[in-house]
Amino acid sequence: MDGVSAQAEAFPPDFVWGAATSSYQIEGATTEDGRGESIWDRFCATPGKVRNAESGAVACDFYHRYRDDIGLMRALGLDAFRFSIAWPRILPDGRGRVNAPGLDFYDRLVDALLEAGIRPFPTLYHWDLPQALEDAGGWPARATAEAFVEYVDTVAARLGDRITDWTTHNEPFCSSWVGYGWGVHAPGRASVADALAAAHHLLLSHGWAVEVIRRHSPDAEVGIVLDLWPMQPASDDATDADAARIADGVHSRWFLDPLLRGEYPEDMLEHFSHVAPPVADGDLAVIAEPLEFVGVNNYSRGLVRADPAGGEPLEVRAPTGKLTDMGWEVYPDGLYEVIMRLHREYAVPKIYVTENGAAFADVVTHDGRVHDLERRAYLADYTSATGRTLADGAPVAGYFVWSLLDTFEWSFGYSKRFGLVYVDYATLARIPKDSFHWYRDLIARRPEPAASART
Ligand code: GCO
Repeated sequence: MDGVSAQAEAFPPDFVWGAATSSYQIEGATTEDGRGESIWDRFCATPGKVRNAESGAVACDFYHRYRDDIGLMRALGLDAFRFSIAWPRILPDGRGRVNAPGLDFYDRLVDALLEAGIRPFPTLYHWDLPQALEDAGGWPARATAEAFVEYVDTVAARLGDRITDWTTHNEPFCSSWVGYGWGVHAPGRASVADALAAAHHLLLSHGWAVEVIRRHSPDAEVGIVLDLWPMQPASDDATDADAARIADGVHSRWFLDPLLRGEYPEDMLEHFSHVAPPVADGDLAVIAEPLEFVGVNNYSRGLVRADPAGGEPLEVRAPTGKLTDMGWEVYPDGLYEVIMRLHREYAVPKIYVTENGAAFADVVTHDGRVHDLERRAYLADYTSATGRTLADGAPVAGYFVWSLLDTFEWSFGYSKRFGLVYVDYATLARIPKDSFHWYRDLIARRPEPAASART
């Protein structure tokens, strides 16, 4: 049995093999068919925020090329396609007026995926907040959580009859801390108080949205996607161990505990006692609304040391080991560790690996192909780690490569290529990379259902 077949054997016949993307990173057409401005349009237009002043204005032009890209998904043999719905296409002002052409696009996309035998796996919010809502206060304002419910109601009413797996938010840590705490992502604000208020309202909007989704999609499964990386001390020093505890609290437990235990972690409330989030009575019960799944986005681990100046913990780069083009250590045990934590510490009923992949400096060689051997090796290591979690009893139901295509990589612009498919941004031509063929073969070699299951 060759290596790929042996790997495929680790997964059950009904395991969901997918690929993931997001609206702002692939769609383009940002001023077409009534779409309103998003915070990422505004952020990209702000000098100095994004490499080379690049933006998602064109991206991969998925908005016009989605049928061809579904052809690539079929060639891969994908079971599911993870994409996100752009709030500004649906409610250009954030609330109120519905933009019919925007809803029509996702209606067509969902039907085209279903016709191709591919399960639509939508995320309702992957960071492209309508700018009008940011102008009114953004995620630090409770009103934005209320606006999210109106948006979800509009989308779920239209698509709820065909969607079986809904995700409310992608990475509320990034939406809150990277966008409002550190200012590295849109909207570019840098305030710990704003980050914690934003995190709370993202979680609250999630809880309110679950109930609305269930009303329109009573048989669907609902979940949330979190970026979960192990935060490990960079040395044996006790101060680094405590710094790792705090980093884990900021990145992971601040979200896991409210969602799955109905409470913020005590040690972190103490750590942030000077900027406590605006929790109203009943909020935590809403946030902890039962879910069918949690999606895990994992790429590596964090190595953490204490700040000698007494500031927040500092992440340091791995001193050894292989790094991807993002400077992230190739550390497949990290995916195993976060999955087993969800299983053993939080008893999550179902887990998807909703993002895993690697950026490398891909080039098109003389033969017109992209021999991305490093990405193929990365994916082999991480799918093996995923297989080990199944063998150890974790309820992992699927794995989505980030990403189907090379995409707009936020503040890095188009300089980081994560795709199974190379995108020539000058012509928008697509070139399946070697890793595309490797993944296709892994999916094709899935074990047959047991004879009894065939009846
Ligand atoms: C994230 C986002 C994606 C990124 C990907 C690579 O996890 O940050 O969900 O939009 O592009 O993870 O960084």
